[in-house]
Amino acid sequence: MTKTLGFDTLQVHAGAKPDPATGARQVPIYQTTAFVFRDADHAAALFNLQEVGYIYSRLTNPTVSALAERIAALEGGAGAVCCSSGHAAQIMALFPLMQPGCNIVASTRLYGGTVQQFSNTIRKFGWSTRFVDTDDLAAVKAAIDDDTRAIFCEAIANPGGYITDIPAIAAIADKAGLPLIIDNTSATPYLCRPIDLGATLVVHSTTKYLTGNGTVTGGCIVDSGKFDWSASGKFPSLSEPEPAYHGLKFHEALGGMAYTFHSIAIGLRDLGMTMNPQAAHYTLMGIETLSLRMERHVANARKVAEWLEQDPRVDHVTYAGLPSSPYYERIKTVCPKGAGGLFTFAVKGGYDACVKLVDGLELFSHVANLGDTRSLVIHSASTTHRQLSEAQQKAAGASPNLVRLSIGIEDADDLIADLDQALAKATA
Ligand SMILES: Cc1ncc(COP(=O)(O)O)c(C=O)c1O
Repeated sequence: MTKTLGFDTLQVHAGAKPDPATGARQVPIYQTTAFVFRDADHAAALFNLQEVGYIYSRLTNPTVSALAERIAALEGGAGAVCCSSGHAAQIMALFPLMQPGCNIVASTRLYGGTVQQFSNTIRKFGWSTRFVDTDDLAAVKAAIDDDTRAIFCEAIANPGGYITDIPAIAAIADKAGLPLIIDNTSATPYLCRPIDLGATLVVHSTTKYLTGNGTVTGGCIVDSGKFDWSASGKFPSLSEPEPAYHGLKFHEALGGMAYTFHSIAIGLRDLGMTMNPQAAHYTLMGIETLSLRMERHVANARKVAEWLEQDPRVDHVTYAGLPSSPYYERIKTVCPKGAGGLFTFAVKGGYDACVKLVDGLELFSHVANLGDTRSLVIHSASTTHRQLSEAQQKAAGASPNLVRLSIGIEDADDLIADLDQALAKATA
């Protein structure tokens, strides 16, 4: 069939075909550490990257590869690498780009764990981060210097549901000869396709919507295959002889697949942040219904956000799908199928009322997670964003008077009824 396959078809079929050994229709869980070589020449060809195949599951595994190929297809990328968590994906994404002394420019509006990882942990590798408000395009440009190696943003930023102007940031990255990395966890490729909007790399916490049922942690990096790693001399791991892989020049040898192969052959080999086949299987199960779930998440989120916005006990709601949002116009280009299922709202009564509200909810689960079929609630300032300073919390959209909702796929009216009774207790 020559027709280009649609999203709903790709989410079910991409990367998978009946198992050649058994005919199994569903992707089997290849629960094995190692794979038998045909002979010594086969083994040498695999290690030389002259032939694609399986060596050892820290590097590649057929179940994990099926998932990587599926996510790459859904994002419109050339290749993808799965890893053990979203946080692992972020380190893995930076690894081929960075040397000690290099920095990244990152949005202030990020998941709190990412702010922490980029503020403190990556310093141990000699890397650093310059945080900027990515709505201030002049500030983004000004933050870039000779040592900058990437710009990093979330498409729909956790927790506030803020929408990043990806085409505008991509234009800045392009002019500076830098890759733009988009964390597409909260939007998913169904709502937002960062590569089509100019991004170079897309990272995911597959833990969230891609799996969709709160069962496993995982991450993924998708490469557009379009970036010229040799143009500036700033990415020697990809453009120059790589000492960690017997002097191979990845970009020259592998072209648009250079980044993906580097991430497997060196990133997974040496950092070992590998996704296991069981986790890949759960995510493959979940991803088959991604578009159906996202449609319901968006419809429910809009209904709940509209109800909250008119409620006198609520100060304001940050959902970008509301006409009152400053990002309402932006979703038309960045997230044309909807503003996602994640947003915050301010409860009149501040911190104490927020904590009472979270305790009073019955249907919503109070957990540090998002993107589940179940509706979830958290008070970011006292949990996920707790380690940040008050200024960082405010910049991230996690002020103490805000409660974050991850709206599930239940009946919206039941969710509204639950919020109604909990608001009554919280503001009594
Ligand atoms: C937007 C976003 N990116 C990355 C992560 C990290 O993912 P993981 O928990 O799978 O490491 C999270 C976790 O909540 C997240 O919300």
